[in-house]
Order: sequence, then structure tokens, then C-alpha cells
Amino acid sequence: MQEEIYKSPKKRGKIAVFLSGRGSNFLALSDAVQSGSINADIALVFSNKKAAPGLLHAREMGLKTLYLRPKNFDSREAYDERLAEEAKKIEIDLICLAGYMKILTPGLCRKFKNKIINIHPALLPSFPGLHVQQKAIDWGVRFSGATVHFVEAEVDMGPIIIQAVVPVEQDDTEETLSARILKEEHKIYPEAVRLYFEGRLEVRERRVFIT
Ligand code: GRF
Repeated sequence: MQEEIYKSPKKRGKIAVFLSGRGSNFLALSDAVQSGSINADIALVFSNKKAAPGLLHAREMGLKTLYLRPKNFDSREAYDERLAEEAKKIEIDLICLAGYMKILTPGLCRKFKNKIINIHPALLPSFPGLHVQQKAIDWGVRFSGATVHFVEAEVDMGPIIIQAVVPVEQDDTEETLSARILKEEHKIYPEAVRLYFEGRLEVRERRVFIT
């Protein structure tokens, strides 16, 4: 069987950022867009949380925002179908999950195959899920970090684009380690999106090659 290869597009792209909270990664992406290092525009900031600070911030910045109330939909599938419609309507090229706390349905992942990326505050495949900074401390690992990866239907899985490593110190708390990791997140997330729209990401099976 021939190996399936996906190449990211070299173009001026349209990004949708999905978030549920603070939005510091959204701001890092937005800074990189404004400085011109990412060849794209943020065409939509979406949230499943009405009062997400990141969403409010995006609105203040004059970006197009959208909030969909999960309770108004019969199922997760119906919610994600609507979301996909909205994203297709404005011809979104890439969805950046940035602290989006709702698990995507397989249908949405399929529709946007190789077009959804996520940032996770651990060195995947170690520590998927939540409270992973505390888990890294509890396990006594010497290093943790952050991972930007393509999204597949399984949570925190998918081909890895960039990772950054930070030391875990003996006296770290969840807060201190999270802050050290977050600093790296703000560097590698914009970097990954920059490479994406420079047409430099090549996905072969589980591996991403930077060309
Ligand atoms: C980050 O730690 C990110 O890695 C994780 O959720 C957090 C979101 O933070 N997926 P923010 O909302 O971008 O500040």
C-alpha cells in the first residue's frame, strides 16, 4: 500500500481558534499573526464557554467570535456539525485548539483531517488528559514540557509537530511548573502554525517531517 502523505499548504491561511478559558495561547498566536511571522489571519475565535476570558478578549480586539451553547444541541455530534458548517462557511484552513475543553467528535476530526492542531502541556504520549503538570510532579519525572500535535479523534493523540522540554525542579508546585511550561507553549505554538502555512509540514503516518 502506498504511504499516505499530507503536505500543509503554502498560502495565506485562515485560522479558527477554539478556546474555553484564559486564552494566553490565543494571544501568542494573535501576536505572531500581527507581527507577520504567521502567514494567516485569525478569521474566527470560537468558544463553548460564554464568559471565557479569551473569547471576550478576542471580541475586544475586533475579531469575529462565536459562542455556541452546548445545551441548545441534542447531541455532541449536532454541536460539532454546526461548528463544522460555520468553519466551512468562512473557509477555515486550520483550527487551533487552545485550551478548548470539549472533546471533538470523530466526525469533526474527519472533516478537518490534518487541519486541526492542539497544544498540550506535557511531553506526549506521556500524560494525556487533565492536570498533567501535577501528574508530572507526582511521577517524579525530571523533564516535562509542551507538545503541539495534529488532532485525531482520540484525546491528546496525533502526529507530533513540535515539542519543548523543561526541567521539573524538586520544589516545583503545579503552578510553578505550569508557568515554566506555558512560556514554552507560547513559543512553539506560533512556530508550528508558521511552519504549517509555509507549507513545511509533511505528515507521513504517525510522523511529521519539517521540510
Ligand atoms: C494550556 O496549558 C494548553 O496547553 C492547554 O490548556 C491551557 C490553555 O491555556 N491545552 P490558555 O487558555 O491558552 O492560557
